[in-house]
Amino acid sequence: MVGSVENIENLKPSNGKPEALPEELDPTAVLESTNENNNVGKEEEGIKREMVLGRNIHTSCLAVTEPDADDEVTGDREAYMASVLARYRKSLEERTKHHLGYPYNLDFDYGALGQLQHFSINNLGDPFIESNYGVHSRQFEVGVLDWFARLWELEKDEYWGYITNCGTEGNLHGILVGRVFPDGILYASRDTHYSVFKAARMYRMDCVKVNTLVSGEIDCADFKDKLQMNKEKPAIINVNIGTTVKGAVDDLDLVIKTLEETGFSHD
Ligand SMILES: Cc1ncc(COP(=O)(O)O)c(C=O)c1O
Repeated sequence: MVGSVENIENLKPSNGKPEALPEELDPTAVLESTNENNNVGKEEEGIKREMVLGRNIHTSCLAVTEPDADDEVTGDREAYMASVLARYRKSLEERTKHHLGYPYNLDFDYGALGQLQHFSINNLGDPFIESNYGVHSRQFEVGVLDWFARLWELEKDEYWGYITNCGTEGNLHGILVGRVFPDGILYASRDTHYSVFKAARMYRMDCVKVNTLVSGEIDCADFKDKLQMNKEKPAIINVNIGTTVKGAVDDLDLVIKTLEETGFSHD
């Protein structure tokens, strides 16, 4: 599900003892080593800034500094920046080796695409309607949509869609489509990604959490009980094809059968 199989080799302890997890980039360590011979970042020296991430969870962070008019100092800052980025890269490499449990591709190679980083590409609006912003990649976007349409055996004139920037945005859009039923209730299993429940709060929708089986699939017995409690309201269902942590695939046929057995029609 995550990363490449070769990475597992890197996790094997060399002396039989488990390896300690790699540290996150420590901003104070960067400051200590880069400030030895110059004045850059003097104001931050020795100061560990704390950032509150949530109740009782703290981490340190780097200070944002403004560019300086003095060229000499700017040169020092560039060296300092290069050092911060090199250390950050190292910490990402280390942490990627030990990363497990998210359905992300950890083996990116942007090589061929690097040349495009200098452009401000924006596919604003609907990919099928021309916009007034000329620096775009809609040819590629629609190509990917066509690929998925073929995969799902849809005719070209039978679908619409767009490529989102992330999974959260995809969930937001999908649930917005379901929101055509203003008094509908959103049903989602407990193993569903948190962004679905966040979307329900953002759209002020009633949301019911359904239990899951040990596998992480939606438990249709519990689903049926919960549907029966709300038979008078339309049901908007979030179904998972690969949950975030367990990779569970909900049984779509059983979900539809459960809806039918509870008296929910297709319209
Ligand atoms: C099923 C699912 N939806 C949404 C997301 C959120 O993705 P992102 O963090 O890219 O918005 C994830 C992330 O793991 C996910 O697994």
